[in-house]
Amino acid sequence: MKSEIQPIGIVGAMQVEIEAVLEAAKEVTVQEHASMKFYTGLLSGVPFVAAQCSPGKVNSALCAQVMADHYRPRLILNIGVAGGIGPEVRIGDVVIATSCVQYDYDGTALGDLRLGEIELPPESQKVRDFPCDREISEKLQKAAEALYGHCHRGAIATGDRFVADPAFGKWLYETFGALACEMEGASTAHACLLNHIPCAVLRTISDNGNEEATVDFPTFARESAHKAQKLLAGVIESL
Ligand code: ADE
Repeated sequence: MKSEIQPIGIVGAMQVEIEAVLEAAKEVTVQEHASMKFYTGLLSGVPFVAAQCSPGKVNSALCAQVMADHYRPRLILNIGVAGGIGPEVRIGDVVIATSCVQYDYDGTALGDLRLGEIELPPESQKVRDFPCDREISEKLQKAAEALYGHCHRGAIATGDRFVADPAFGKWLYETFGALACEMEGASTAHACLLNHIPCAVLRTISDNGNEEATVDFPTFARESAHKAQKLLAGVIESL
């Protein structure tokens, strides 16, 4: 590790999300682990390690684990875009997670697990809502409100599915109270929980998980990634 100060870990699924961070970073170096690139450097003078994990729960959990093992981050922040599914959530809005659920984990047939509930090592403790660090999330919320006027804070639904079906989005909102859907937040939070690392999930809405989602997503992804980066650069010193 380059710096004695534990870095802030940043996990993003897409190159555009990590590029936005790197554009604003200084003293960047790169190492490869598990076929993923891990960039270290300074963002607003703060040591960070950032990696593009590619989409999905397994990719993001692997990335967070490698980050934990090799860089010992003091916090892992999962950034990126998401589909807005809460009734008030619009394209361009910022959503900060209070917790994230893996909505496609289904052990209900076994009888004693709720949808999304997962047994964790070491003692099969059941967790459905993977927690995000409250203090850090509140700081992110305040920074987002100061920068963009408003910000949503609530549950995020994570699954290995790009949601482009309004009925499914509505179901996620009604079943889990989720404001947004994406593909990495809960799995990052899962890895953080097992490694005793605080986690935060910061998402900017690129689409509304409906029939237009596949068109809106590429259109707004870059803009949304820059919005998240600007927010992060402003707040990282206080995290
Ligand atoms: N990330 C951005 N938009 C998404 C969507 N509609 N579904 C899943 N992940 C997303």
